[in-house]
Formats: sequence, structure tokens, C-alpha cells
Amino acid sequence: MKSRRKFNCILVTGGSGFIGSNFIRYLLDENLVATHGFDGRIMNLDALTYAGNPANLADVEKQAGARYRFVHGSICDSALLDRLFREEPIDAVVHFAAESHVDRSIHGPAAFVQTNVVGTLALLEAVRSAWTSAAGAFREEVLFHHVSTDEVYGSLGAEGFFREDTSYDPRSPYSASKASSDHLVSAYHHTYGMPYTLTNCSNNYGPFQFPEKLIPVVILNILDQKPLPVYGDGSNIRDWLYVEDHNRAVWEVMCRGTNGRSYNIGGDNEWQNLRLVETLCDICADELDRKVEDVRGLITFVKDRPGHDRRYAIDCTRLKDELGWRQTVDFTEGLRRTVRWYIDNLGWVDNVRTGAYRDWIEQNYSDR
Ligand code: NAD
Ligand code: TYD
Repeated sequence: MKSRRKFNCILVTGGSGFIGSNFIRYLLDENLVATHGFDGRIMNLDALTYAGNPANLADVEKQAGARYRFVHGSICDSALLDRLFREEPIDAVVHFAAESHVDRSIHGPAAFVQTNVVGTLALLEAVRSAWTSAAGAFREEVLFHHVSTDEVYGSLGAEGFFREDTSYDPRSPYSASKASSDHLVSAYHHTYGMPYTLTNCSNNYGPFQFPEKLIPVVILNILDQKPLPVYGDGSNIRDWLYVEDHNRAVWEVMCRGTNGRSYNIGGDNEWQNLRLVETLCDICADELDRKVEDVRGLITFVKDRPGHDRRYAIDCTRLKDELGWRQTVDFTEGLRRTVRWYIDNLGWVDNVRTGAYRDWIEQNYSDR
């Protein structure tokens, strides 16, 4: 068994988004300290773009007290980053912040290069200057963890799986920008000796996901009795993983992963889009006491996404063999939990749908 790294002060970037907010919840949950062993502090640096929502962590902010600090700002702001590293004894960075939606990257790729590539470079530079000693060598007790996606590997046909040694072949502006950031992180290791770990995960789902990705789009449209848009013929395949299982894997890799190594994370859970949407219809019909055929009747085939990747499937043997990670949430159970979460949090849903959360950000976070 490898010994665990111990962190006292973690900088989470993009912690107000979907996966980052679930990660912070997990690490700050007092009931889970015995499980994950983290009792230190978290800084959350988030620019609060359209995808960032402070409401995702409002209760945590109240309960965690001095263990949690929110900083409103961008990873592109080098002066802010330098100040943060001077103010706080940060010994780990978990880098979630990104523009994350493929469709948006097709309409406006520049923002993806700015945040995912230029922003990651600014963060790496701040880390390099803060974490190197007078002799220029990286301190040993620090760690940069980069959160990435399986989409950097491109698209699979009917057979095969992405492994860590699969060549990168990104095909959307989103995946190209993430691939570029992965290469920068690994270049900082090889060139300057920066200690890092990296994870490439498959599609996540769960609470607090912004309603632009498939699963929340479908749930919220069912609630509103609106058409459920299925791109093309619905036969594209994704490998789905519950967000908590992703975050447990990220944490295990941070604590016990080999320096300079990447780990794939996936759910062994391939679903054709249409079958997934039909399953969501069935679960929602049951939860909302509606007729299955009425809900399924909302399914609408729409124009396909340009360059739509055919299939993603992950081989995460390395993560399982080296670190003993296993997914814990069964897909049907995870989908039902997610549906219930959206139904139980209609206030959050309304704020996001009407855009009211943006006004609240303006009033509360413009000067922080
Ligand atoms: P998200 O879009 O929900 O959240 C992104 C967060 O980053 C938001 O809070 C946003 O405000 C913040 N952000 C954006 N630009 C910023 C900047 N310049 N400075 C600081 N903060 C900024 O994304 P997500 O789905 O939570 O994904 C998080 C990470 O995980 C991303 O790096 C993504 O590539 C990766 N990932 C996502 C999935 C998935 O299925 N969603 C799967 C694998 C990997
Ligand atoms: P998405 O959630 O955007 O994730 P990604 O593109 O990163 O895999 O999309 C998941 C799959 O669902 C993808 O094959 C595109 C498809 N899709 C639809 O069919 N309809 C939709 O409204 C959306 C958002 C996605």
C-alpha cells in the first residue's frame, strides 16, 4: 500500500461549477473526514462564469467557517494568483476551472483557448514561482492535480477502449483545448520537475450539473413538458459516471497516485444516447406520476452536432489495480438520485433557468 500524501491547504480552481462544487462538498463534509482523511482548508478560486454558481456551495460556505475561503477571480489573472500563493500556505492545487461544454466550443472556440490553455498556463506559472525554492527546484511536498477528460483521445468505433497510452486525437475545440492543457502540465513536469498527477474522466452526471449537458437538459425539459433534443439518430455512445465516484477517484489519485502519471476514470457504463434518454423518461414518469408514453413522446430528433464523436469508452485498469478504486453508484440508482435532486431543488433550477443567479452574483460578489 502506497503511503498517502497529506495536504493542509488546497487551492481548488472552478470550485463553483458542477464537479468542483461536489468535490469541495466531499472534502469539507465533517462526516467523511474518517473516510478521506482531509481536515485542512480549501480556497476556491472561481471566475463565476455562466457555469459558476455560488448557490452550489452556499450551505457549505456557512458551515465550514475558516476551513473554506471563496475568491472571486480568474485563473488568467497572474497578479491575483501570486497574491493568493503569498497569502495562503497552499500545498496542493486541483484544477477544475475550464470552459466545459462541447456545443459552446463549436460556436465560440476562442473562450476555450483563453481559459483552458492560456488560463492553465498562467496557473502553472504562478505555481512555478510559488513552489520553487531559492535553488529553483520544486518543493517535494506540493502537488498539482489536473482534471481532464477522456475526450482528448478522440472518438472510438464499435470496438476498443481508451487507455492511458492511447494517442491524443482531440476533435472538438473543447477537447483540443483540454489536450493542450494536459500537454502543458506534463511539460512543466518534464522541464521544471513540477510534481503532478492527471486524470482523464468520462461523462459525469449528478446534482448541480448546469442544464446544458444532456442529462440535466432532458430532466428539466421533461419537468417543463418541452421537446427532448436527441442529436442525429441517438446512437452515439458515452460512458457515464456519477460525480461522487469521479471525485473519490480524483482524491485517491491526489493522495496516492504516482508523480507524473495520468489515470483514466470511467464507469464501465456505455450507453447509446437514445437508450439513456428513454431510461430517463421512464424514471421521470415514475417520479412525477405521468404516463411513460407521454414522456417518451417528447423525444425529438434534431440536427446532429458537427464532428460529433461516435463513442467514448474507458479502460481504467490502472486506477483499479494501483489504487483499488471502484465505482460505487449503480447507474439506474444514480440517475434516479439525480432526477430526485432536480425535483427537490426547483428553487436552484428556477434561478438558473431565469438567469436570476447572475443578478445575485452581481450583488454579492462583484467586489470580492
Ligand atoms: P462547469 O462548466 O460546470 O464548471 C466550470 C467552473 O469553472 C465554473 O464554476 C466556472 O465559473 C469556472 N471557471 C471558468 N473559467 C474560469 C476562469 N477563467 N477562472 C476561474 N474559474 C473559471 O464544468 P464541470 O463539468 O464541473 O467540469 C470541471 C472540469 O472537469 C473541467 O476541467 C472539465 O474539462 C473536466 N471534466 C468534466 C467532465 C464532465 O462530464 N462534466 C468529464 C471529465 C472532465
Ligand atoms: P454532453 O452532455 O454535451 O457531453 P459531451 O458532448 O461532452 O459528451 O452530450 C452527451 C451526448 O449527448 C453527446 O453525444 C451529445 C448528445 N446530446 C444530445 O443528443 N442532445 C443534447 O441536447 C445534448 C446537450 C447532448
